[in-house]
Amino acid sequence: PLQRIHAVLAMGPLVPVITIHRKEDALPLAEALVEGGIRVLEVTLRTPEALPAIEILCKHLPAEVVVGAGTVTDPDSYRQAESVGARFVVSPGITPRLLDYGLRANAPLLPGIATVSELMLGYELGYRAFKFFPAAVAGGLEALKAMAGPFPDAVFCPTGGIRRDTAREYLALSNVMAVGGTWLTPENRVSESDWPGIARLARESLASCLS
Ligand code: 3PG
Repeated sequence: PLQRIHAVLAMGPLVPVITIHRKEDALPLAEALVEGGIRVLEVTLRTPEALPAIEILCKHLPAEVVVGAGTVTDPDSYRQAESVGARFVVSPGITPRLLDYGLRANAPLLPGIATVSELMLGYELGYRAFKFFPAAVAGGLEALKAMAGPFPDAVFCPTGGIRRDTAREYLALSNVMAVGGTWLTPENRVSESDWPGIARLARESLASCLS
């Protein structure tokens, strides 16, 4: 699983961090993102709707769209996410138990780190891809550039405080494979079921990152 997370990130470069408040939003919201060109979705386990939503998305979205679980903080929720079909798992930080579980799990883990020492805890177990969180307050672009020195083979998906206009700058770094965030699913658009607006935002964000 340690290598498979690279394949997931390579399907980015944008990973919407999605929180589902109404179960019925899950599919139209995801379909709008896919319509806008998104192929990797992270559904956070922050609401009771998250696990049923992941199950629905895994069943109904085209197979080339990868759905994972975010905000996974312990092996129990990791297992639950896997049981509903999550194809990858993202954690905001690390614990020894979580890193250990991720080595044996079916769904690969993208462990969250904010410091070099945390990176090293994952690194010594073989992890080479990390979520850098919360990116903007943990040093942003400069921190990622500095980490490329001692850890040239580590790659990152920064999230936390990244927006459409800064995503591009992060993606320009050689050790950034993908960028995640909630800006792709603004709460007002979701609550108004503005699916065309969500699709447009995804398309425009991708275009500005890839140009
Ligand atoms: C995450 O878990 O990655 C964050 O909640 C992203 O949040 P933001 O894009 O709103 O900063």
